[in-house]
Amino acid sequence: MTTPPDESTPHLDHVHSGKVRDLYRLPDGRLLVVASDRISAFDHVLASTIPDKGRILTAMTVWWFERLAGVVPHHLLSVDDPLIPPHLRGRAMICVPLRMLPVEAVARGYLTGSGILDYRATGAVCGIPLPPGLEDGDLLPEPIFTPATKAAIGEHDENVSFEAVAATIGEPTANRLRDLTIEIYRTAAEIARERGILLADTKFEFGHDEGGRLVLGDEVLTPDSSRFWPAEEWRPGRAQPSFDKQYVRNWLLSPESGWDRASDEPPPPLPDDVVAATRARYVEAYERLTGRSFEEWLRPS
Ligand SMILES: Nc1ncnc2c1ncn2[C@@H]1O[C@H](COP(=O)(O)OP(=O)(O)O)[C@@H](O)[C@H]1O
Ligand SMILES: [Mg+2]
Repeated sequence: MTTPPDESTPHLDHVHSGKVRDLYRLPDGRLLVVASDRISAFDHVLASTIPDKGRILTAMTVWWFERLAGVVPHHLLSVDDPLIPPHLRGRAMICVPLRMLPVEAVARGYLTGSGILDYRATGAVCGIPLPPGLEDGDLLPEPIFTPATKAAIGEHDENVSFEAVAATIGEPTANRLRDLTIEIYRTAAEIARERGILLADTKFEFGHDEGGRLVLGDEVLTPDSSRFWPAEEWRPGRAQPSFDKQYVRNWLLSPESGWDRASDEPPPPLPDDVVAATRARYVEAYERLTGRSFEEWLRPS
């Protein structure tokens, strides 16, 4: 028996909580994946929540799963079902339970983040050699698969080579994981590009269903799992403006927060204006990408 994350769900069978999502088993065996309004930064779950974040990320994930249906099998079964507790409507997805692979399946079309750090140190990312002279934010010659190990809460995911992944999950599965990851990335990047958004990189999680089929799980192509850059502001050679937790990270690193990232202290609560700006950025990403109004998404009832 595990401890539920809050008091609102005593009747549900809680199976797991990650940094952002809470997982429950429904009586029929299916999985209920609930996205909370929690936000993490620098491997800490913050004391503050971002209102509506769980609903926005769920709305975005559902939109992407619809668009990817022809590319890869995914775990989503339903978002509007009488089995979903009314107070969780809009943030909960009924899903196929999967045996998750212990791998973060990352695709990168642009070089930044841990990719550019690896590249500067070794000229390669996850063992994939890249041309010399690339700068932060540069477009790569083609999208690359740069897997990482899944770290425990508070730990850093670590980039690993394709060979290391193959040694863990077997070469046939590793090959399929790489090919699917790149194919989904290409499809999604093209869709985002039409909306003026560059999909710099993204992380997927896959698992096997009961029948042994490799299925796309978790959330997909949200600002929490991806870097979305406004295309018109893209200038390689510097950090790019992005539709994610940038306000949060900037504030935490600023003198105002009084927080020292190198210390063992948890980050302080966020000021209201940082919370509001972050919420607005998530809504903007959803609306720009989907062309839909967030006002029209499912609400708790
Ligand atoms: N269909 C599924 N079956 C089982 N586990 C899943 C499924 N989809 C996602 N998960 C797992 O649910 C958890 C999602 O919670 P999250 O807060 O995102 O975790 P994390 O802190 O690991 O990012 C992850 O551990 C993910 O691997
Ligand atoms: Mg996650």
